[in-house]
Amino acid sequence: MAVKRILSGMRPTGKLHIGHYVGALESWVSLQGEYENYHLVADYHVLTTQLETESMLSNTIDMIKDWVAAGIDPEKSPIFRQSQIKEHAELYLLFSMLITKERLERNPSLKEQIRDLNLPSVIYGHLGYPVLQAADILLYRAIVVPVGEDQVSHIEITREIARKFNKTYGNVFPEPATKLTHFSRLPGLDGKAKMSKSLGNTVFLSDSPEAIWQAVRKAVTDTQKIRRNDPGRPDVCTIFTYHNVFNSMEIDVIRRDCESGALGCVDCKKNCAAKIASFFEAHREKRESLSDDMIMDILVDGETRARILARETMALVHDAMKLG
Ligand code: TRP
Repeated sequence: MAVKRILSGMRPTGKLHIGHYVGALESWVSLQGEYENYHLVADYHVLTTQLETESMLSNTIDMIKDWVAAGIDPEKSPIFRQSQIKEHAELYLLFSMLITKERLERNPSLKEQIRDLNLPSVIYGHLGYPVLQAADILLYRAIVVPVGEDQVSHIEITREIARKFNKTYGNVFPEPATKLTHFSRLPGLDGKAKMSKSLGNTVFLSDSPEAIWQAVRKAVTDTQKIRRNDPGRPDVCTIFTYHNVFNSMEIDVIRRDCESGALGCVDCKKNCAAKIASFFEAHREKRESLSDDMIMDILVDGETRARILARETMALVHDAMKLG
């Protein structure tokens, strides 16, 4: 029977926040039993928007601590850096011949980044971002990719590249399916659609209960609920979204008491902060127990295992393309 393999990845931007957890990490952990999971640190991808590499390694270590603390078992599921497996670069080059510049220019997340980061022009490697991602996924011949909504367009490009390769050279690659995470996106504390470190609207998984409270305290709620006893609208409230994820047991009571005006925002936030803190208590403890050296060992081991599979795939590619 063919192996059911998953490839998932994140760019190493440092310690993770609760948006990463519900948007990706939680589903990675739950898929571990059913599939063989490969977890990639997309360090090359960081370079598409940031050339400075000073903090790449410390950001990588910080991120992997959160992966492992959340329940990724590195013995079962290899964890590795893209940059340490040279086959990514080779497959990326070959794939870059299978897609047009016009197709890549239509990529909605590229357009979004040009707008958000106010980019005056586009770096060649940035245009190729989804091609590199396709190489990440197909190098491990993954059949499923668990991602948030924002990555769907990249997986579509991966499928197109797999089809084009198979049609041109023979069947080597599966066309991977997207597996959308349950809560693909958590709003930020400021009520913005996305929680993101660069927007400064996050709660980190490693935050202490006090830090969580300080963050949640300042969160934007229903702007029309001004006085404690004003009736509120949970459906437009960020804190209610968090309750829904981290405190689902009390969700009906909170809705009722918010709508009737019986529940004030400060009490509701205190409760929310406490629930988030206890939800991640075991996470914080586990994370504390992980040293940088332990993470480096995990990486070296994961890279050795990932490399074996990557070389197997490249042998198939070389055969199919009659290269060498
Ligand atoms: N583009 C992804 C993100 O920003 C990171 C990533 C790189 C990735 N390679 C991948 C995700 C392969 C899934 C599969 O989140």
